[in-house]
Amino acid sequence: MKRMEEMILSEGKVLPGGVLKVGSFLNQQVDTNFMREIGDEIARLYKDDGATKILTIESSGIPIAISAGFAMGLPVVYAKKNKSSNVSGDVYYTPVKSFTHGDTNNVVVAKEYISPEDRVLIVDDFLAHGSALTGLIDIVDQAGAALVGCVAAIEKGFQLGGDKLREQGYRVESLAIVDEMTDDGITFRPQY
Ligand code: G4P
Repeated sequence: MKRMEEMILSEGKVLPGGVLKVGSFLNQQVDTNFMREIGDEIARLYKDDGATKILTIESSGIPIAISAGFAMGLPVVYAKKNKSSNVSGDVYYTPVKSFTHGDTNNVVVAKEYISPEDRVLIVDDFLAHGSALTGLIDIVDQAGAALVGCVAAIEKGFQLGGDKLREQGYRVESLAIVDEMTDDGITFRPQY
């Protein structure tokens, strides 16, 4: 998505440790007009795949998933992060280790919100090492639902999570893929 690359170039800041700060439009402050464009692009990518539900993870995936939900006319379910190792109740859960933060959360979704009849599209803001998407895929599998595919707003190609998932046969679409970023500039993977 050309506009995503333009927004990253104009507003993104490269931080030490391979972190791209996009707080001005995607993470903390949300550019709502741009969010509408993101939703439309996700709808365009997955218009023929019969999704019945969008699944994301709190917190920064939520605005993107809601925009896609509006554009596709679909409900959005968001997984919650629970630091406690004890999870009880009628829930699907899976541990997700964050490479960026170095901690592990149980990712939890109430069973009533995903059923075996669902065709699920997974949406998130960043795809880095792929832990969050792998956890959400595990939840879709536990529910016996079908996975339509995954979308990340921004993939950090140099952290390889997206390519590993594609090698496993999953459809993973990223609106922009950053293959390299230094203080001198950002290189995107050609996609169109
Ligand atoms: P992974 O899921 O692909 O393996 O990613 P990783 O563990 O490295 O990322 C953990 C968290 O850090 C995620 O947010 C992810 O969105 C965020 N993140 C990863 N790389 C970047 C980056 O370069 N820039 C920014 N802004 N965020 C990044 P989270 O901890 O789940 O928090 P939340 O913001 O969704 O609440």
